[in-house]
Amino acid sequence: MLTKEKIIDEQRQGEALVLTENPSNGKKMYIESYGCQMNFSDSEIVASILAKEGFESTKDYKSSDLILLNTCSIREKAEQTVRTRLRSFNSLKKNNPNLLIGVLGCMAERMKESLLEQEKLVDLVVGPDAYRDLPSLIKKVEGGQKSVNVLLSREETYADISPVRLGNNGVSAFISIMRGCDNMCSFCVVPFTRGRERSRNPLSIVAEAKDLLNKGYKEVTLLGQNVDSYRWNISKKGEIIDSNTPTTNFAQLLELVAKVSPELRVRFSTSHPKDMTDDVVISMSKYENICNYIHLPVQSGNSNVLKRMNRGYSREWYMNRINSIRQIIPDCGISTDIITGFCNETDQEHQDTLSLLKWAEFDNAYMFFYSERPKTLAERKFEDDVPLAIKKQRLNDVIEAQRINSLLNNNKSIGKTYKVLIEGFSKKSKEMFCGRTTRNAMVVFPKESFNPGQYVNVKIEDCTVGTLIGKVV
Ligand code: SAH
Ligand code: SF4
Ligand code: F3S
Repeated sequence: MLTKEKIIDEQRQGEALVLTENPSNGKKMYIESYGCQMNFSDSEIVASILAKEGFESTKDYKSSDLILLNTCSIREKAEQTVRTRLRSFNSLKKNNPNLLIGVLGCMAERMKESLLEQEKLVDLVVGPDAYRDLPSLIKKVEGGQKSVNVLLSREETYADISPVRLGNNGVSAFISIMRGCDNMCSFCVVPFTRGRERSRNPLSIVAEAKDLLNKGYKEVTLLGQNVDSYRWNISKKGEIIDSNTPTTNFAQLLELVAKVSPELRVRFSTSHPKDMTDDVVISMSKYENICNYIHLPVQSGNSNVLKRMNRGYSREWYMNRINSIRQIIPDCGISTDIITGFCNETDQEHQDTLSLLKWAEFDNAYMFFYSERPKTLAERKFEDDVPLAIKKQRLNDVIEAQRINSLLNNNKSIGKTYKVLIEGFSKKSKEMFCGRTTRNAMVVFPKESFNPGQYVNVKIEDCTVGTLIGKVV
């Protein structure tokens, strides 16, 4: 029997994962995850690999024999957070000399041996494609050696590993459909930490979705850094690799997963504006259970900045994508990511981001100021010359513009009724449930006698910037 539980702090960072499985090897492990959904999904693979070795999970890191941090390198601050955390875990070794501390994920890949040698904070460093090697690496450390495996792979997709669902409400789950990234956005460290892009066998993806449905899940989110370039049995040049095997692109994969059951909602993330084709949106429009929501990071509203970012599209191209989505699915939720203060960004270029943000009326946006990352194209080619104070001021500008968008969008929902999948208790009250609409808007309503995993129709009566408030009708 598995028991699972998770603790989330407010920023959805530093999530502690708990799992126990028999038979135990008498050792307890504690995993904390940072970064993107992909990393949280990977922690579920790691938990599965180690549960088979008999590691019992705990949410109490003080009583654990093995502490693993699944880390993120996307911005400098993400790495600083992990370093602080590692120092505090290290101090536990005074009372527990057998304690092992490991770093997994993107920071492991980026820093490699230096995490062991220079900083002396950890015993174990394991990159994102080396998790199958964890049991033997742990044995090596127990034998007194430090151990590292940061080899990146061109094939590894962990397709055969059944993840232990950790970050769990029992209603929605992640399914990784691909790994790595072959884009070279000039600001981004991911291609260096996650390696080459590779897609997972569609049959194993559908099988995982069916298994989740059988276990009572009602929603899956298909994950990849650029889901639109998912391809099975198709070469990068577009040729068929094996004539005896059917080919699958992302639009087709979406439909395969949607057909698993009309009761299973399908979401996906992340779409790339340069690759997102109308056939994906058409597939969405054909199936009621494929949610009408697209996360389409724009990064900047100025074509010259987009060029420096090496994003592969212009402002006009992006606007055309949005128009096309709204033509095919008029009521489609769209969110985005923005970076302010990228190298050489002028005030006029920043104004273009603001005007695009207002024009697009995004439902939501994740906004960051630029953080230079080692080895990236931008670090080598451009000067990080926008002063921090200006980066932050511009970030405040976009946050404010988006706050107005969100409020406008949410106000438009008042009086309307939406189908909501109940996820669980709302953050603030055990009397209220929360769940999402197809457009990914969070709705809070009195729980009455409903249950998580049920679909209900909620009439919206009020809203805040981030939440719709209503009653089941
Ligand atoms: N694959 C996704 C993004 C993954 S990273 C895509 O292509 O859109 C998530 C977000 O972090 C990015 O969209 C970007 O907005 C932000 N980000 C990435 N690198 C950054 C950096 N060096 N500084 C600030 N923000 C960054
Ligand atoms: Fe990074 Fe660009 Fe790949 Fe996204 S598409 S992960 S931003 S390199
Ligand atoms: Fe961070 Fe790596 Fe994801 S850098 S955002 S954890 S792919």
